[in-house]
Amino acid sequence: MKFKTIIEPFRIKTVEPIRQTTEAQRAVALAAAHYNIFLLRGEDVLIDLLTDSGTGAMSIYQWAGMMRGDETYAGARSFYAFDAAVRDITGFTHVIPTHQGRAAEHILSGAMLKSGDIVPNNRHFDTTRANFEARGASAMDIPIAEGHHPQALHPFKGNMDLAALERVLTENPGRVPLVMITVTNNSGGGQPVSMANIRGASAIARQHGVPFFLDACRFAENAWFIHTREAGYEDRTPIEIAREMFSLADGCTMSAKKDGMANIGGFLAMNDDALAQRCRNTLILTEGFPTYGGLAGYDLEAIAVGLYEALDPDYLRYRIRFVEYMAEKMTSAGIPMVRPAGGHALYLDAKAWLPHIPPSEYPGWALSLVLYLEGGIRACEIGSVMFGQQPDGSERPADLELVRLAFPRRVYTQSHMDYVCEVLLHVNSIAPRIRGVRIVEQPPALRHFTAKFEPLVRGVFA
Ligand code: F0G
Repeated sequence: MKFKTIIEPFRIKTVEPIRQTTEAQRAVALAAAHYNIFLLRGEDVLIDLLTDSGTGAMSIYQWAGMMRGDETYAGARSFYAFDAAVRDITGFTHVIPTHQGRAAEHILSGAMLKSGDIVPNNRHFDTTRANFEARGASAMDIPIAEGHHPQALHPFKGNMDLAALERVLTENPGRVPLVMITVTNNSGGGQPVSMANIRGASAIARQHGVPFFLDACRFAENAWFIHTREAGYEDRTPIEIAREMFSLADGCTMSAKKDGMANIGGFLAMNDDALAQRCRNTLILTEGFPTYGGLAGYDLEAIAVGLYEALDPDYLRYRIRFVEYMAEKMTSAGIPMVRPAGGHALYLDAKAWLPHIPPSEYPGWALSLVLYLEGGIRACEIGSVMFGQQPDGSERPADLELVRLAFPRRVYTQSHMDYVCEVLLHVNSIAPRIRGVRIVEQPPALRHFTAKFEPLVRGVFA
């Protein structure tokens, strides 16, 4: 290409104002939210990087599709558009719509798992883990060695440890009803999985006669990483790569709130007729009739269009570059983060950045509060608040103390990101003065959503 600048491959037709607040106003909002960023009102946030899930901007083609939405209860035209798109991209014969990804996980686990089973995955996302554990199965994470180290570099750091997979299957005959790979590996830093690794896992699972599924939420971002990093895929388009990824699996779960480019929706897809029948039976009980599965006809249309838009090379080049651009700025400023940059998010390494705050004083949580207070940015702790609480009520520090900046799709521009970088550089200059927090009140599980906190030293966040 003649010019180097990678621009946002869209122009903006409708705008949603965001509100500037003063630091004093944010201090009041934070206190009212009990120092928990999940309890803030969205309107008090300037740049919201809490999640890339369901927060994207839809295109004119998706909105046009929504106007075509057919709200017929059974056999709606919109279902057939959705079904055709999913089958075209994944090749799976049965497509079961669900209201979001975790509903697909819930139905799949009900149909496949029983108490005592083991499900290996490169890394389970937390809802996947919770759904499997709710069936009494154990969710086993087997990432490659590099996947355990935030600073270790690897082009496909999301890969599964295939020797460990072979071992689990050999040592537990009859106890592994499902093998999964999550693309990209969200809990492991948004890191991609190579085609070779997917092929290897698929071959091992098949040798043992065990179905192999993809958690495909970010399949298009993963396809782009394969296109740019894996030998032999330079000349293959993202849709061809995606088709090859899916061809190696027996089915998938999907949250269309990510690479479906939709605000809500998901699906479960597979080739096994009997399994699909069992899944549809549960679907009718919990989500709805098999041709809408908890979604409106217009949602199905938005996803049918969005899945293709997520695979557009111009979009993917911009999407991945957007995150990489941020990572380069952070790295040159010496701000520690999980490397290399992931596909949808940056993960700041609060343990390395704030070494003076012990895990018992929640460095990642404190950092998320400072980002909001200083710059109106909302990001999410993935550390000892999220994972430290044990089922017996005790406390164990998490492996990593991360803060995730997840980027909604097609929502923020480069100047928004330059602003985020400026705030991070400022936070870097005051990092030694940041102090920890303590928990004042917490629920028995999943405490990060609702727990109440207090700064350890009032007024000394910064
Ligand atoms: N699998 C992965 C890898 C995910 O990242 C998510 C959601 C799900 C499954 C569940 O999908 O939200 O539609 O029910 N991740 C969001 C996030 C919530 O912020 O990373 P869902």
